[in-house]
Amino acid sequence: MTAAGFVPPPYPYERLDGLLTIAGALPGGAVDFSIGTPIDPPPAAVVAALSSSGSERGYPPSVGSAPLRAAIVDWISRRFEVTIQPDAVAACVGTKEFVGTLPQWLKLRTPEKDTILYPTVAYPTYEMGAILAGCQPVPVAMTPDGRLDLDSISPNDADRALALWVNSPGNPTGACDDLGAVAEWGRRHGVPVFSDECYVEFIWDGPPASILQHGLDGVVAVHSLSKRSNLAGARLGFYAGDPELVDYLQQVRKHVGMMVPGPTQAAGVVALEDDVHVGEQRERYLHRLQRTAEILGAWTGTRVPLPAGAFYLWFEVGDGWAFAEKLAAEGGAIVSPGEFYGSQSANFVRVAVVQPDDRIELIAQRLGVA
Ligand SMILES: Cc1ncc(COP(=O)(O)O)c(C=O)c1O
Repeated sequence: MTAAGFVPPPYPYERLDGLLTIAGALPGGAVDFSIGTPIDPPPAAVVAALSSSGSERGYPPSVGSAPLRAAIVDWISRRFEVTIQPDAVAACVGTKEFVGTLPQWLKLRTPEKDTILYPTVAYPTYEMGAILAGCQPVPVAMTPDGRLDLDSISPNDADRALALWVNSPGNPTGACDDLGAVAEWGRRHGVPVFSDECYVEFIWDGPPASILQHGLDGVVAVHSLSKRSNLAGARLGFYAGDPELVDYLQQVRKHVGMMVPGPTQAAGVVALEDDVHVGEQRERYLHRLQRTAEILGAWTGTRVPLPAGAFYLWFEVGDGWAFAEKLAAEGGAIVSPGEFYGSQSANFVRVAVVQPDDRIELIAQRLGVA
Protein backbone atom coordinates (compact mmCIF):
# COMPACT_ATOMS: atom_id res chain seq x y z
CA MET A 1 0.00 0.00 0.00
CA THR A 2 1.38 3.42 -0.80
CA ALA A 3 0.77 6.33 1.54
CA ALA A 4 0.62 9.87 0.27
CA GLY A 5 0.76 11.68 3.59
CA PHE A 6 3.29 12.53 6.24
CA VAL A 7 6.81 11.17 5.86
CA PRO A 8 8.85 11.55 9.06
CA PRO A 9 12.07 13.47 8.34
CA PRO A 10 15.38 11.79 9.22
CA TYR A 11 16.07 12.05 12.95
CA PRO A 12 18.75 14.77 13.19
CA TYR A 13 21.36 12.79 15.11
CA GLU A 14 21.12 9.81 12.76
CA ARG A 15 22.55 12.12 10.11
CA LEU A 16 25.83 11.98 12.04
CA ASP A 17 26.36 8.26 11.41
CA GLY A 18 28.92 8.98 8.67
CA LEU A 19 30.96 11.17 11.00
CA LEU A 20 30.84 8.50 13.70
CA THR A 21 32.39 6.05 11.24
CA ILE A 22 35.20 8.49 10.37
CA ALA A 23 35.93 9.31 14.02
CA GLY A 24 35.54 5.69 15.09
CA ALA A 25 38.45 4.69 12.83
CA LEU A 26 40.92 6.64 15.01
CA PRO A 27 42.75 4.73 17.78
CA GLY A 28 40.64 5.24 20.92
CA GLY A 29 37.46 5.67 18.89
CA ALA A 30 34.93 8.46 18.55
CA VAL A 31 34.28 10.97 21.32
CA ASP A 32 30.66 11.93 21.01
CA PHE A 33 29.71 15.51 21.90
CA SER A 34 26.57 15.52 19.73
CA ILE A 35 23.54 14.50 21.83
CA GLY A 36 23.15 16.16 25.24
CA THR A 37 22.83 12.83 26.98
CA PRO A 38 24.13 12.65 30.57
CA ILE A 39 26.91 10.17 31.33
CA ASP A 40 27.47 10.78 35.03
CA PRO A 41 25.82 8.61 37.68
CA PRO A 42 22.68 9.58 39.57
CA PRO A 43 23.00 9.37 43.38
CA ALA A 44 23.07 5.79 44.69
CA ALA A 45 19.93 6.39 46.78
CA VAL A 46 18.05 7.39 43.63
CA VAL A 47 19.11 4.23 41.81
CA ALA A 48 18.19 2.14 44.87
CA ALA A 49 14.72 3.67 44.92
CA LEU A 50 14.13 2.32 41.41
CA SER A 51 14.03 -1.20 42.76
CA SER A 52 12.58 -0.85 46.25
CA SER A 53 9.31 1.08 45.98
CA GLY A 54 7.10 -1.92 45.13
CA SER A 55 5.33 0.35 42.67
CA GLU A 56 6.06 -1.77 39.60
CA ARG A 57 3.01 -3.97 40.06
CA GLY A 58 0.13 -1.57 39.67
CA TYR A 59 -0.57 1.23 37.22
CA PRO A 60 1.03 4.50 38.30
CA PRO A 61 -1.03 7.71 38.45
CA SER A 62 -0.57 9.64 35.20
CA VAL A 63 -0.61 12.98 37.02
CA GLY A 64 2.13 11.77 39.38
CA SER A 65 1.97 10.16 42.83
CA ALA A 66 1.15 12.31 45.86
CA PRO A 67 4.76 12.03 47.17
CA LEU A 68 6.14 13.02 43.76
CA ARG A 69 3.87 16.05 43.48
CA ALA A 70 4.78 17.05 47.03
CA ALA A 71 8.49 16.76 46.19
CA ILE A 72 7.97 18.90 43.08
CA VAL A 73 6.10 21.56 45.06
CA ASP A 74 8.86 21.57 47.63
CA TRP A 75 11.62 21.85 45.00
CA ILE A 76 9.84 24.77 43.32
CA SER A 77 9.57 26.51 46.67
CA ARG A 78 13.27 25.87 47.48
CA ARG A 79 14.62 26.85 44.10
CA PHE A 80 12.39 29.73 43.08
CA GLU A 81 10.67 30.81 46.29
CA VAL A 82 7.33 30.23 44.60
CA THR A 83 4.38 28.65 46.36
CA ILE A 84 2.32 26.37 44.15
CA GLN A 85 -0.44 23.91 45.01
CA PRO A 86 0.09 20.19 44.30
CA ASP A 87 -2.83 20.17 41.85
CA ALA A 88 -1.02 22.77 39.72
CA VAL A 89 1.84 20.33 39.01
CA ALA A 90 1.78 17.09 36.99
CA ALA A 91 4.25 14.49 35.76
CA CYS A 92 5.33 13.72 32.20
CA VAL A 93 7.36 10.87 30.72
CA GLY A 94 10.41 13.06 30.23
CA THR A 95 9.74 16.41 28.64
CA LYS A 96 10.34 15.48 25.00
CA GLU A 97 6.99 13.75 24.79
CA PHE A 98 5.34 16.74 26.49
CA VAL A 99 6.89 19.16 23.98
CA GLY A 100 6.11 16.87 21.05
CA THR A 101 2.44 16.27 21.92
CA LEU A 102 1.36 19.57 23.52
CA PRO A 103 0.17 21.24 20.29
CA GLN A 104 -2.40 18.53 19.57
CA TRP A 105 -3.99 18.88 23.00
CA LEU A 106 -4.13 22.67 22.68
CA LYS A 107 -5.55 22.46 19.16
CA LEU A 108 -8.31 20.07 20.24
CA ARG A 109 -9.30 22.52 22.92
CA THR A 110 -9.14 25.65 20.78
CA PRO A 111 -9.75 24.48 17.20
CA GLU A 112 -10.08 28.01 15.80
CA LYS A 113 -6.34 28.58 16.45
CA ASP A 114 -3.52 26.73 14.72
CA THR A 115 -0.11 28.31 15.38
CA ILE A 116 2.79 27.34 17.62
CA LEU A 117 5.42 30.02 18.26
CA TYR A 118 8.95 28.96 19.24
CA PRO A 119 12.51 30.36 19.14
CA THR A 120 14.16 30.45 15.71
CA VAL A 121 17.31 28.81 17.08
CA ALA A 122 15.98 25.96 19.18
CA TYR A 123 15.53 22.39 20.24
CA PRO A 124 13.89 20.82 17.15
CA THR A 125 10.92 19.25 18.96
CA TYR A 126 9.06 22.57 19.34
CA GLU A 127 8.68 22.69 15.55
CA MET A 128 8.12 18.95 15.21
CA GLY A 129 5.30 18.97 17.80
CA ALA A 130 3.49 21.60 15.76
CA ILE A 131 3.97 19.59 12.56
CA LEU A 132 2.74 16.38 14.19
CA ALA A 133 -0.44 18.17 15.28
CA GLY A 134 -1.05 19.64 11.82
CA CYS A 135 -0.39 23.12 13.26
CA GLN A 136 1.64 25.97 11.77
CA PRO A 137 5.12 26.14 13.30
CA VAL A 138 6.15 29.81 13.35
CA PRO A 139 9.72 30.56 14.49
CA VAL A 140 10.14 33.80 16.45
CA ALA A 141 13.19 35.93 15.61
CA MET A 142 15.81 36.32 18.32
CA THR A 143 17.77 39.30 19.55
CA PRO A 144 21.58 39.20 19.20
CA ASP A 145 21.83 38.12 22.85
CA GLY A 146 19.62 35.08 22.24
CA ARG A 147 16.28 36.28 23.62
CA LEU A 148 12.91 36.06 21.90
CA ASP A 149 12.29 39.21 19.88
CA LEU A 150 8.69 39.54 21.06
CA ASP A 151 8.10 42.73 19.07
CA SER A 152 8.77 40.83 15.86
CA ILE A 153 5.70 38.57 16.30
CA SER A 154 3.04 39.70 13.85
CA PRO A 155 -0.47 40.49 15.16
CA ASN A 156 -1.84 37.76 12.90
CA ASP A 157 0.50 35.11 14.33
CA ALA A 158 -0.28 36.26 17.87
CA ASP A 159 -4.03 36.01 17.18
CA ARG A 160 -3.67 32.48 15.85
CA ALA A 161 -1.20 31.24 18.45
CA LEU A 162 -2.09 28.29 20.66
CA ALA A 163 1.19 28.62 22.56
CA LEU A 164 4.50 30.42 22.73
CA TRP A 165 7.55 28.36 23.70
CA VAL A 166 10.48 29.94 25.49
CA ASN A 167 13.57 27.97 26.53
CA SER A 168 15.81 29.44 29.22
CA PRO A 169 18.67 28.65 29.51
CA GLY A 170 18.27 27.75 25.88
CA ASN A 171 19.43 24.78 23.88
CA PRO A 172 21.64 25.27 21.88
CA THR A 173 22.67 28.85 22.69
CA GLY A 174 22.75 28.71 26.50
CA ALA A 175 21.20 32.20 26.58
CA CYS A 176 18.84 33.18 29.40
CA ASP A 177 15.65 35.00 28.44
CA ASP A 178 13.68 37.73 30.19
CA LEU A 179 10.92 35.44 31.45
CA GLY A 180 8.96 38.30 33.04
CA ALA A 181 8.70 40.00 29.65
CA VAL A 182 7.69 36.75 27.95
CA ALA A 183 4.96 36.05 30.55
CA GLU A 184 3.70 39.60 30.17
CA TRP A 185 3.59 39.31 26.37
CA GLY A 186 1.58 36.07 26.65
CA ARG A 187 -0.98 37.60 29.03
CA ARG A 188 -1.33 40.73 26.90
CA HIS A 189 -2.06 38.65 23.80
CA GLY A 190 -4.02 35.83 25.45
CA VAL A 191 -1.37 33.29 24.38
CA PRO A 192 -0.36 30.58 26.89
CA VAL A 193 3.39 30.61 27.47
CA PHE A 194 5.24 27.31 27.95
CA SER A 195 8.67 27.83 29.47
CA ASP A 196 11.07 24.93 28.95
CA GLU A 197 13.40 25.18 31.93
CA CYS A 198 15.11 21.80 31.78
CA TYR A 199 18.59 23.41 32.14
CA VAL A 200 17.59 25.69 35.02
CA GLU A 201 20.02 24.06 37.47
CA PHE A 202 22.86 24.97 35.11
CA ILE A 203 22.75 28.76 35.03
CA TRP A 204 26.36 29.96 35.32
CA ASP A 205 26.01 33.63 36.00
CA GLY A 206 22.99 34.09 38.25
CA PRO A 207 20.37 32.40 40.43
CA PRO A 208 17.92 29.82 39.02
CA ALA A 209 15.15 31.69 37.20
CA SER A 210 11.66 30.40 36.39
CA ILE A 211 8.67 31.92 34.66
CA LEU A 212 6.73 30.88 37.76
CA GLN A 213 8.38 33.80 39.59
CA HIS A 214 6.25 36.11 37.44
CA GLY A 215 2.84 34.71 38.44
CA LEU A 216 1.07 31.52 37.41
CA ASP A 217 -1.60 33.06 35.24
CA GLY A 218 -1.28 31.85 31.64
CA VAL A 219 2.15 30.24 32.09
CA VAL A 220 3.41 26.68 32.47
CA ALA A 221 7.00 25.82 33.39
CA VAL A 222 8.33 22.52 32.04
CA HIS A 223 11.08 20.72 33.95
CA SER A 224 13.06 17.53 33.60
CA LEU A 225 15.08 15.28 35.86
CA SER A 226 17.08 14.08 32.86
CA LYS A 227 19.76 16.75 33.13
CA ARG A 228 19.35 17.80 36.76
CA SER A 229 19.77 14.32 38.16
CA ASN A 230 21.25 12.32 35.26
CA LEU A 231 18.01 10.37 34.91
CA ALA A 232 17.40 10.67 31.17
CA GLY A 233 17.08 6.89 30.91
CA ALA A 234 14.43 6.66 33.63
CA ARG A 235 12.17 9.28 31.94
CA LEU A 236 10.73 11.84 34.32
CA GLY A 237 9.69 15.41 33.83
CA PHE A 238 6.93 17.64 35.10
CA TYR A 239 4.95 20.73 34.26
CA ALA A 240 3.68 23.32 36.69
CA GLY A 241 1.84 26.61 36.55
CA ASP A 242 -1.56 27.96 35.58
CA PRO A 243 -3.93 25.61 37.48
CA GLU A 244 -6.52 25.55 34.74
CA LEU A 245 -4.04 24.72 31.96
CA VAL A 246 -2.29 22.08 34.07
CA ASP A 247 -5.64 20.51 34.95
CA TYR A 248 -6.73 20.32 31.30
CA LEU A 249 -3.43 18.82 30.21
CA GLN A 250 -3.26 16.22 32.96
CA GLN A 251 -6.83 15.17 32.15
CA VAL A 252 -6.31 14.78 28.42
CA ARG A 253 -2.89 13.12 28.77
CA LYS A 254 -4.37 10.48 31.09
CA HIS A 255 -6.51 9.20 28.22
CA VAL A 256 -3.48 8.26 26.14
CA GLY A 257 -1.65 6.49 28.94
CA MET A 258 1.05 9.10 29.51
CA MET A 259 2.27 7.48 32.74
CA VAL A 260 5.68 7.78 34.33
CA PRO A 261 6.59 4.28 35.58
CA GLY A 262 6.01 3.93 39.33
CA PRO A 263 9.65 3.07 40.14
CA THR A 264 10.76 6.18 38.27
CA GLN A 265 8.31 8.30 40.23
CA ALA A 266 9.72 6.86 43.47
CA ALA A 267 13.27 7.62 42.35
CA GLY A 268 12.21 11.11 41.35
CA VAL A 269 11.11 11.87 44.90
CA VAL A 270 14.56 10.94 46.25
CA ALA A 271 16.29 12.93 43.50
CA LEU A 272 14.20 16.06 43.99
CA GLU A 273 14.79 16.05 47.73
CA ASP A 274 18.56 16.18 47.24
CA ASP A 275 20.51 19.20 45.99
CA VAL A 276 24.04 17.99 46.79
CA HIS A 277 24.38 15.90 43.64
CA VAL A 278 23.21 18.85 41.56
CA GLY A 279 26.03 20.98 42.94
CA GLU A 280 28.53 18.24 42.03
CA GLN A 281 27.13 17.97 38.54
CA ARG A 282 27.36 21.73 38.07
CA GLU A 283 31.07 21.58 38.85
CA ARG A 284 31.64 18.77 36.36
CA TYR A 285 29.88 20.59 33.54
CA LEU A 286 31.51 23.93 34.26
CA HIS A 287 34.96 22.37 34.22
CA ARG A 288 34.25 20.50 30.98
CA LEU A 289 32.85 23.64 29.35
CA GLN A 290 35.96 25.62 30.25
CA ARG A 291 38.43 22.95 29.18
CA THR A 292 36.66 22.06 25.93
CA ALA A 293 36.36 25.75 25.01
CA GLU A 294 40.09 26.13 25.67
CA ILE A 295 40.96 23.14 23.46
CA LEU A 296 38.71 24.11 20.57
CA GLY A 297 39.79 27.75 20.88
CA ALA A 298 43.45 26.74 20.62
CA TRP A 299 42.73 24.51 17.61
CA THR A 300 40.67 27.09 15.71
CA GLY A 301 42.69 30.12 16.80
CA THR A 302 39.48 31.87 17.90
CA ARG A 303 37.79 32.50 21.23
CA VAL A 304 35.10 29.92 21.93
CA PRO A 305 32.58 31.67 24.21
CA LEU A 306 31.23 30.10 27.39
CA PRO A 307 27.42 29.98 27.67
CA ALA A 308 25.30 31.78 30.29
CA GLY A 309 23.60 28.47 31.03
CA ALA A 310 23.23 24.79 30.02
CA PHE A 311 26.14 22.57 29.00
CA TYR A 312 26.68 23.35 25.34
CA LEU A 313 29.33 25.35 23.56
CA TRP A 314 27.69 27.20 20.69
CA PHE A 315 29.91 29.12 18.32
CA GLU A 316 30.24 30.31 14.77
CA VAL A 317 32.56 28.35 12.49
CA GLY A 318 31.73 29.29 8.90
CA ASP A 319 30.13 26.07 7.68
CA GLY A 320 28.80 23.87 10.49
CA TRP A 321 28.89 20.61 8.53
CA ALA A 322 32.40 21.24 7.16
CA PHE A 323 33.68 22.04 10.67
CA ALA A 324 32.01 18.90 12.10
CA GLU A 325 33.64 16.76 9.39
CA LYS A 326 37.08 18.23 9.95
CA LEU A 327 36.82 17.81 13.71
CA ALA A 328 35.64 14.21 13.32
CA ALA A 329 38.54 13.39 10.98
CA GLU A 330 41.32 15.17 12.90
CA GLY A 331 40.10 14.99 16.50
CA GLY A 332 37.69 12.06 16.41
CA ALA A 333 35.10 14.31 18.08
CA ILE A 334 31.47 14.40 16.97
CA VAL A 335 29.64 17.71 17.27
CA SER A 336 26.26 18.83 15.96
CA PRO A 337 26.06 21.14 12.95
CA GLY A 338 24.04 24.25 13.81
CA GLU A 339 21.52 23.43 11.08
CA PHE A 340 19.95 20.90 13.49
CA TYR A 341 18.63 23.84 15.50
CA GLY A 342 17.19 25.91 12.68
CA SER A 343 18.01 26.95 9.15
CA GLN A 344 19.45 30.27 10.31
CA SER A 345 22.26 28.71 12.31
CA ALA A 346 23.96 26.59 9.64
CA ASN A 347 27.25 28.39 10.31
CA PHE A 348 27.35 27.34 13.99
CA VAL A 349 28.16 24.12 15.79
CA ARG A 350 26.98 22.80 19.15
CA VAL A 351 29.29 20.86 21.44
CA ALA A 352 27.60 19.00 24.34
CA VAL A 353 30.20 18.53 27.08
CA VAL A 354 28.92 15.11 28.06
CA GLN A 355 32.26 13.30 27.97
CA PRO A 356 34.58 12.55 30.88
CA ASP A 357 37.79 14.53 31.34
CA ASP A 358 40.08 11.80 29.96
CA ARG A 359 38.10 11.68 26.69
CA ILE A 360 38.25 15.46 26.43
CA GLU A 361 42.03 15.30 26.91
CA LEU A 362 42.23 12.67 24.16
CA ILE A 363 40.76 15.26 21.78
CA ALA A 364 43.38 17.81 22.89
CA GLN A 365 46.15 15.29 22.16
CA ARG A 366 44.78 14.37 18.75
CA LEU A 367 44.42 18.03 17.80
CA GLY A 368 47.94 18.77 19.03
CA VAL A 369 46.85 21.36 21.59
CA ALA A 370 47.23 19.37 24.85
C1 LIG B 1 15.49 22.20 25.43
C2 LIG B 1 15.14 20.78 25.71
N1 LIG B 1 13.91 20.48 26.10
C3 LIG B 1 13.56 19.21 26.38
C4 LIG B 1 14.47 18.19 26.28
C5 LIG B 1 13.99 16.79 26.56
O1 LIG B 1 14.53 16.22 27.68
P1 LIG B 1 13.83 14.98 28.40
O2 LIG B 1 12.82 14.40 27.46
O3 LIG B 1 14.90 14.03 28.69
O4 LIG B 1 13.16 15.54 29.62
C6 LIG B 1 15.76 18.45 25.89
C7 LIG B 1 16.75 17.36 25.75
O5 LIG B 1 17.85 17.52 25.33
C8 LIG B 1 16.12 19.79 25.60
O6 LIG B 1 17.36 20.12 25.23
